[in-house]
Amino acid sequence: MSIDFIDLKAQQARLRPQIMAGIDKVLAEGRYIMGPEVKELEQKLADFGQAKHVLGCANGTDALILPMMAWKIPRGAAVFCPSFTYCATAEIIAIMGAIPVFVDIDRETYNMCPHSLRAAIEGVKASGDMEMFGVIAVDLFGQSANYEAIAPLAREYGLKLIADSAQGFGTTLNGQHPLAWCDLATTSFFPAKPLGCYGDGGAVLTNDDALAAAMDSVRVHGKGADKYDNVRIGLNSRLDTIQAAILLPKLSVFSDEIQARNKVAARYNDGLRSKAMRVPMVLEGVVSTWAQYTLEVPDPMAFAATLKEKGIPTARYYPKPVHVQTAYSHYPCGAGGMANTEDCIGNIISLPMHPYLDENTQDMIIETAKAAL
Ligand SMILES: Cc1ncc(COP(=O)(O)O)c(C=O)c1O
Repeated sequence: MSIDFIDLKAQQARLRPQIMAGIDKVLAEGRYIMGPEVKELEQKLADFGQAKHVLGCANGTDALILPMMAWKIPRGAAVFCPSFTYCATAEIIAIMGAIPVFVDIDRETYNMCPHSLRAAIEGVKASGDMEMFGVIAVDLFGQSANYEAIAPLAREYGLKLIADSAQGFGTTLNGQHPLAWCDLATTSFFPAKPLGCYGDGGAVLTNDDALAAAMDSVRVHGKGADKYDNVRIGLNSRLDTIQAAILLPKLSVFSDEIQARNKVAARYNDGLRSKAMRVPMVLEGVVSTWAQYTLEVPDPMAFAATLKEKGIPTARYYPKPVHVQTAYSHYPCGAGGMANTEDCIGNIISLPMHPYLDENTQDMIIETAKAAL
């Protein structure tokens, strides 16, 4: 038996007629760029994500660049972000000529630690070296960051707050989406993401009218009221109409899939919780989208090898935190240090996770994982 780490085929089998009908309609109408499906998707994403404005764009990385360009982030300004994340979170800060300042994670949730954030902000403030611009919190593995603690800090120091929800679109904290606490939230529609398309795609969500208008201009080369009078330097970062048509049926079952992912996670937790194996911890009040189900085990490589023998794939997100990667090691870590990030990195390993993982397969994975220890 072969098990998929993320099974996109099962979802496709469920939605294929609607997806094919959507693609056919786009081909018949020929409005490949910014067609009506893009607008419809943006409206439906706004309803789903409790946002006033949603703008589709080319990918989840651009979704982070659009607001930075719209805000004209000053060169050399500090932006605080975790190091235990995909590189794109820090990359977009560096691309803008700003400085990523790495903040440690909470040891339980793997998301940005509010105490470490305060220490990092105080450290930069005391040094007087850099202007401070903003904070990018990441909803890692699908779990909302602790915005109830982070947002007051951002406000206290006058910093913009961005939710990099590339992995966590759909996560809620006490019933609210991350945007409720932030200036802006982003997502990625990379195929393996909880809400993914069949190519690259992304979106930004905001309640700020002026920011939405500026980002709308940035995503089309800095367009002005007249298409050929560009008023700012921008990008070509639109979401393809075909990808929007693929996302529409996927969005219609997304809530249902989040529930199914939570069932899988609960069953994994019940079956795997033990002294030898640390199961993921979700903050009280959070519904995670479970982009990844990540365990900690004493020897992840040996664990992975044993599971592989039984046809069970695993993956390690992330074996190397961003602050030690070659392109980023010269950027500063916050004054709080990186002890928690460095402590978990040697033990993390992720199991297959998707909404269509049946109970027999889950049981087989649980038994094999237990035996591997
Ligand atoms: C936390 C995070 N931010 C940003 C991105 C970038 O998204 P994309 O690959 O769509 O550019 C990803 C993608 O993996 C991610 O995991």
